[in-house]
Amino acid sequence: MNILSDVAAVRESLRGEKNIAFVPTMGNLHEGHLALIKQAKQLSDCVVVSIFVNRLQFLPHEDFDRYPRTLEEDCRALSALNVKTVFTPDEKILFPTPQEFLLALPPVADILEGKFRLGFFRGVATIVLKLFNIIQPDLAIFGKKDYQQLHIVREMVRQLNLPVSIVSGETVRTPGGLALSSRNQYLNDTQRAEACRLYQTLQQIRQEIVSGCQDFQTLQENAIHNLAQHGWKVDYISIHERRSLLPARPPDQDLVTLAAAWLGNTRLIDNLEI
Ligand code: PAF
Repeated sequence: MNILSDVAAVRESLRGEKNIAFVPTMGNLHEGHLALIKQAKQLSDCVVVSIFVNRLQFLPHEDFDRYPRTLEEDCRALSALNVKTVFTPDEKILFPTPQEFLLALPPVADILEGKFRLGFFRGVATIVLKLFNIIQPDLAIFGKKDYQQLHIVREMVRQLNLPVSIVSGETVRTPGGLALSSRNQYLNDTQRAEACRLYQTLQQIRQEIVSGCQDFQTLQENAIHNLAQHGWKVDYISIHERRSLLPARPPDQDLVTLAAAWLGNTRLIDNLEI
């Protein structure tokens, strides 16, 4: 496995490759990431994984400094999966000078996560575009766990005519339903058990809608109230139309409920398609 941290080196090592499948990550790999990588391996013999904790997508008060960095374990896991190339640049490589060119994003980047994490998607889109330019993949895999991110990357690729196919990967969950995330390790045992309630809440909303309820507002309010009663601080629980990611209105059909909520000092996000 090639572990490369330099732009020229990774370009050189991928020269002539015909079908590059790319999985961008911030490291601290868990089964959710590994599932995306296994999916990539089914689509290509040449899988590239990047590991880079991207400062541009963190607000000043967020967990950039304490975000778990576990490069050695990550590389062991990737080597066991026979990944061909790992790109692990440090900040000086990707930002030799301050990143002054930043993408301007559409309004969909200002709702949901974008409303609570100002500039988050601008940081994500900018780094993803840089990584696409460096790796030049034929396809790239993004997990549905970050549903809005997947939507925005798809839109960026479409509107900027980037020559890469975006493939989505399903969310991997614990037996209790908690979506796997690097941030789960901030939870203590009690919180970890409680954290499953977020997915259960999404499932209840889905059940109500499938049974014919179209009062999305009340469903959202009840869910927020229910979580708050169990100690959560909810940023949003919101039902949206899947294709546009705009707030759903009856009789919209293909829906997704997205949620972000705090359990203690840990912010969890999840979603469920309906
Ligand atoms: O989903 C993530 O881990 C990050 O947002 C990504 C896509 C690697 C960009 O930093």
